[in-house]
Amino acid sequence: MSTEVGENPKVEGARAAGEPSGAPSASDLLHGSILYLEGITVSFDGFRALDNLSLLIERGELRCIIGANGAGKSTMMDVVTGKTRPDSGQAFFDRGIDLLTMSEPEIAIAGIGRKFQKPTVFEEHSVFVNLELAMKARRSVWATLTARMSGEQRDRIESVLETVGLTECRALRAGAISHGQKQWLEIGMLLMQEPQLLLVDEPVAGMTHQETERTAELLTSLAGDRSVVVVEHDMEFVRSIARRVTVLHEGRVLAEGDMDSVQNDPKVIKVYLGE
Ligand SMILES: Nc1ncnc2c1ncn2[C@@H]1O[C@H](COP(=O)(O)OP(=O)(O)OP(=O)(O)O)[C@@H](O)[C@H]1O
Ligand SMILES: [Mg+2]
Repeated sequence: MSTEVGENPKVEGARAAGEPSGAPSASDLLHGSILYLEGITVSFDGFRALDNLSLLIERGELRCIIGANGAGKSTMMDVVTGKTRPDSGQAFFDRGIDLLTMSEPEIAIAGIGRKFQKPTVFEEHSVFVNLELAMKARRSVWATLTARMSGEQRDRIESVLETVGLTECRALRAGAISHGQKQWLEIGMLLMQEPQLLLVDEPVAGMTHQETERTAELLTSLAGDRSVVVVEHDMEFVRSIARRVTVLHEGRVLAEGDMDSVQNDPKVIKVYLGE
């Protein structure tokens, strides 16, 4: 990796510094969207988990990504968050940030939040303290600002509690709330970091029907102000929130469009929904 920590990772900057033009710049490729993946390939011992994957996510969009087990959905999130480096391809975020030159913490600070399938809350602490700790993770970056922000920070926690529907549970130990509530708390913890792009992997697995419906409302409400990418196997849930749906298969995009068009796509019926 040639980019050092602290160096501006924006490709636009590199172009301005006098690189020969010819290939389009990162901001040209992004075209106002929030995430641009092009030709991403990830191999594990010769097996291609992602195979020349290209994906564009618009600002404010709520995108659902579906696909059979092993299709590469989580690996795609691993690439976007810096957990896995692809063998080849390009990944740009926001106004031209080159994700492939950045570490996981740098990507999180740049504004991409990721929720894994299992909730990872601090069980021994209260719901409120969990949100406070999530904010501190960011606050250390802004150490100079912290001293006089505590009133604002409290308001921010209150507002996130309200958003994720946990105001009543604020004083409860996180270990004592339901599985669904833990998932919402973890989404709340991500919101404390004010991400522009939220990646959510299988949020409703193990939830009750009612919790699933509330999660649908929550994710729908979060899109717009930020972009949300949801991976989920629960088709009823996907249908309830779906606008644009991407079907992954063997590490590439098999189909993309609204729910009806992908569900009626013969390629999709053959390899996935028709199973
Ligand atoms: N670290 C790894 N080492 C080896 N193989 C891996 C690794 N991570 C993922 N894979 C393989 O890559 C393929 C894609 O996995 P991935 O987890 O991205 O699928 P997925 O679409 O998220 O599936 P699921 O719906 O089951 O979560 C699978 O065949 C998986 O076994
Ligand atoms: Mg997965």
